[in-house]
Amino acid sequence: MLEKMSDFFTTRVAGYDQHMLNNVAGCKEGYIKMAELLPKATANLLDLGCGTGLELDEIFKTHPHIKVAGIDLTEAMLDVLKKKHPDKDLTLIHTSYFDYDFGIEKYEAVISFQTLHHYSHEQKIKLYSRVYTALKPGGRYIECDYMVTEQEVEDFYFKENERIRKEQNIPDGEFYHYDTPCTIDNQLKMLRLAKFDQVDMVWRKENTTILVADKAIK
Ligand SMILES: C[S@@+](CC[C@H](N)C(=O)[O-])C[C@H]1O[C@@H](n2cnc3c(N)ncnc32)[C@H](O)[C@@H]1O
Repeated sequence: MLEKMSDFFTTRVAGYDQHMLNNVAGCKEGYIKMAELLPKATANLLDLGCGTGLELDEIFKTHPHIKVAGIDLTEAMLDVLKKKHPDKDLTLIHTSYFDYDFGIEKYEAVISFQTLHHYSHEQKIKLYSRVYTALKPGGRYIECDYMVTEQEVEDFYFKENERIRKEQNIPDGEFYHYDTPCTIDNQLKMLRLAKFDQVDMVWRKENTTILVADKAIK
């Protein structure tokens, strides 16, 4: 049975950090790598689906004075993040990143870690376009996520998701937890369609993959 996205993470919040660090191949190293890829001069950062902030735990080590806006659907995850970093400049926004207005040219960097593999191409392209707009010229978007290499594998998960949602009578547009990883090629295409000027895959361990998308200074 699929669970509502926020119920899924609320139920698992207690063991969440340990699970990601010890059981999901590549995550532990991916959090460190993301911090390394964040431009040194980043003063304002937007974190999409920040959860308990495992990526921020690493980023605060290299960027202790950074100002962060973190968006997440699951209040219980945000509560953990707030308790971990009471002294940091953190604005936590409890909503969907598909609904929140990111603004225009506000951030030097935007990140997402293991959150977008639940969504369709269409949803991601629109989101990436809004991320592009929210970045300052010369800004960087970094995504670390569950990605695959074969189109057949992507197709399988999307079809399964559709079948199970139909079976459970889940209305369109409601967020339920099911992993639908995209291929790295499709991910790069989506970011290019969103007008990013330079898009690259920079790191991968098992299926945990990091993409960097840069907005030119012009
Ligand atoms: C696997 S966790 C990743 C959390 C954190 N980034 C990390 O790597 O530890 C996925 C997070 O994405 C959030 N999420 C999923 N869909 C979302 C949406 N549409 N808007 C905001 N947050 C969302 C979930 O609530 C959850 O906290």
